Amino acid sequence: MARPGLLLLLLLALPQWTALLPWPDTAQGTMAGLILTALERATSFLEDRLPSINLDGVVGFQVLEVQLRGVQEKWVSNPLLRPLSLRTEQLTNTLSTLLQRSIFYLKQSDPKYLREFQPSIQPGFWKLPHAWMRTNASLVYPWLEPLDLFSEESSDTCLVQLLGTGTTSSHPCELSDFCRTLMTKTGCSGYSLSHQLLFFLWARMQGCTEGLFRQSQHYMSIFCSNMMDLNRRAEAIGYTYPTQDLFMENIMFCGLAGFSDFYKLHWLEAILSWQNPRAGCFGKPATKGELPEATAHQQHILRRVRRREKLFTDGCSCHNTATAVAALGGFLYILADHPHPGPDDGSAASSYQDTSMPDAQRMDRPITLLLRSWSQKSHAEEEAEEREQLQPIATWGVGLETEGTGLGRLGGGMG
Ligand SMILES: *[C@@H]1O[C@H](CO)[C@@H](O)[C@H](O)[C@H]1NC(C)=O
Repeated sequence: MARPGLLLLLLLALPQWTALLPWPDTAQGTMAGLILTALERATSFLEDRLPSINLDGVVGFQVLEVQLRGVQEKWVSNPLLRPLSLRTEQLTNTLSTLLQRSIFYLKQSDPKYLREFQPSIQPGFWKLPHAWMRTNASLVYPWLEPLDLFSEESSDTCLVQLLGTGTTSSHPCELSDFCRTLMTKTGCSGYSLSHQLLFFLWARMQGCTEGLFRQSQHYMSIFCSNMMDLNRRAEAIGYTYPTQDLFMENIMFCGLAGFSDFYKLHWLEAILSWQNPRAGCFGKPATKGELPEATAHQQHILRRVRRREKLFTDGCSCHNTATAVAALGGFLYILADHPHPGPDDGSAASSYQDTSMPDAQRMDRPITLLLRSWSQKSHAEEEAEEREQLQPIATWGVGLETEGTGLGRLGGGMG
């Protein structure tokens, strides 16, 4: 099969052609098919290694299940989308069975972690965004703390407090002074930042609305704007391993928080290209002639950053796969949530209001432009990004000359 990226480039080069076809045969339809294929493979990976998948891995697939149900709800009434809809349904059913079975293994491997975080894998916990918004570059911190500040332990403590599953506190939405300070701290990057966002995201899922949580949206905008900045930097340095994990985590979390600008076509292409085609997992890329020292160093970083990371000997990573499937599920969901041409185009039903372009014109545009039209950018910005997006994929690795590279900043966050 052709590389997905290459196929997409070909499709994008043929806008007139694709505009004549019914939706499933357009660039968006092909895109949905590619994402589904990737998700089917990842689900096979889950099935193959179910006994060894840790809770973080299961959470990613739990999010995916919710996203797939959301997608199906949008597609089911459109006869043109029947094949895609059936595939989605089948995948959802497989996933649902696997997730139920996974609890059995988690009870054996890490009962304490399971008890504390069980709500996050409970059906009904994760909810999809109802309205889309964008990050705001003026919220990006002018400076960053030098290190990825807080440990996974303290982050876990605050999440457990929020869920009310600890042994001492038992009411959800409770908040100690320690957690309030930690979770609203300015200048964090890396996993500290993504966990600050996760904290407010879970508060929303849990229905916490009082006190500090009155300002949840405010904090989420700040955190996701900074996560956007970090992701752009990750892209600029060619997504070097292991930053891919944080990059996908940021898309997963901020996408769920409703920030549509994380769903960029070239980010989707990048993620699809990282999947291990045989195992279906995501993780350490197979590299040629890599220095052993570099590997040891990266392993060290990974261990330090993700205490519970589980890396299989073939490079497959539970955490990477989890963030990848939930990021990809988000792409599929926004694709389904967006109005598209069909027998009865239901544009009016979408919560998204695009005022910048007449409907007919919008429907004809390939997905890159559709994806960007969600994000309501200035025309100059759009044109700049269009040029950037149409560059051959081979140039991704040499993004170093752009914007003075954020290596220092992102690197500072990662170790
Ligand atoms: C972005 O944030 C700044 C600072 O809070 C604010 O003044 C501005 O209106 C925001 N822009 C948008 C588009 O929301």
